[in-house]
Amino acid sequence: MSKILVIGACGQLGTELTQSLMNRYGHDNVIPSDISDKKEFYKNNNFETLNVLDKEALLNATKNHGISQIYLLAAVLSAKGESDPMFAWKLNMEGLLNVLEVARTENLEKIYWPSSIAVFGPSTQKEMTPQETIADPNTVYGISKLAGERWCQYYFDKYGVDVRSIRYPGLIGWKGQPGGGTTDYAVEIYHKAFNGESFECFLEEDTYLPMMYMDDAIRATIELMEADPEKVKVRSSYNVSAMSFSPKEIFNAIKLHYPQFEISYKPDFRQKIANSWPYSIDDSEARDEWGWNPNFDLGKMTEEMLTNLASKEVV
Ligand code: SER
Repeated sequence: MSKILVIGACGQLGTELTQSLMNRYGHDNVIPSDISDKKEFYKNNNFETLNVLDKEALLNATKNHGISQIYLLAAVLSAKGESDPMFAWKLNMEGLLNVLEVARTENLEKIYWPSSIAVFGPSTQKEMTPQETIADPNTVYGISKLAGERWCQYYFDKYGVDVRSIRYPGLIGWKGQPGGGTTDYAVEIYHKAFNGESFECFLEEDTYLPMMYMDDAIRATIELMEADPEKVKVRSSYNVSAMSFSPKEIFNAIKLHYPQFEISYKPDFRQKIANSWPYSIDDSEARDEWGWNPNFDLGKMTEEMLTNLASKEVV
């Protein structure tokens, strides 16, 4: 049985992905780790407090637990990265290189590392952005993800490290809150509606961005990681897509459930980041090569989000 280390297990994606991995492969086979000590969160004695920038600690954790797969989810996202570009570069780049090096020297089975639609930039084709196209990111986050994709390809080509990656769109889930992204508004808006508050949106009403419900993102991740290696032809990072919408459209979808809900728009620096990203993504390679197919559109996601928020299981 493979033993999995999740780095960044207390973040928005990590919270949900770790739980799914535990359900699928058994609690004892998944070691959650994070720089912030939220042990009680997992009620799991295996939790490791780990800073991915500490290569020795990473190597020790890998050896001590007999780790064969690493999911590296720790990163500084697009908006937050702009307030300290050097740190965003350091964490996103050195963190990945530390994991790739451990994978190489310890002969690990597989690595998962997320990339993002942020690898694209102002000159990229905006509608149905292809897998291979101009990528001229203008955020430090996007630059680090693009460089990271090249490193993943390099470690696969040169050392045979089985590293797999997805370019996530904005991820929307009800269990964990995102931190520091440009697509975060699409999570917060549900919480505001649910709490009976109005929502001030930091993007303009007609800003279209690619988005995905968390359940789809988790399924895409696990399906890619379980795919036969020969089916995984893209070794930089796969485009995956589910839906695209604007703040106005998500507001209207929520208003069907909360007719009193109100929105106002006050765009800030994140508007420029959003304007540099695609409207929609062509994910035909992921569909053709390992069978990707999304389940959630805006209407179905909205029902799920509001139902789950009401179930009070929010952590
Ligand atoms: N959701 C991320 C962000 O907004 C994009 O990958 O930064």
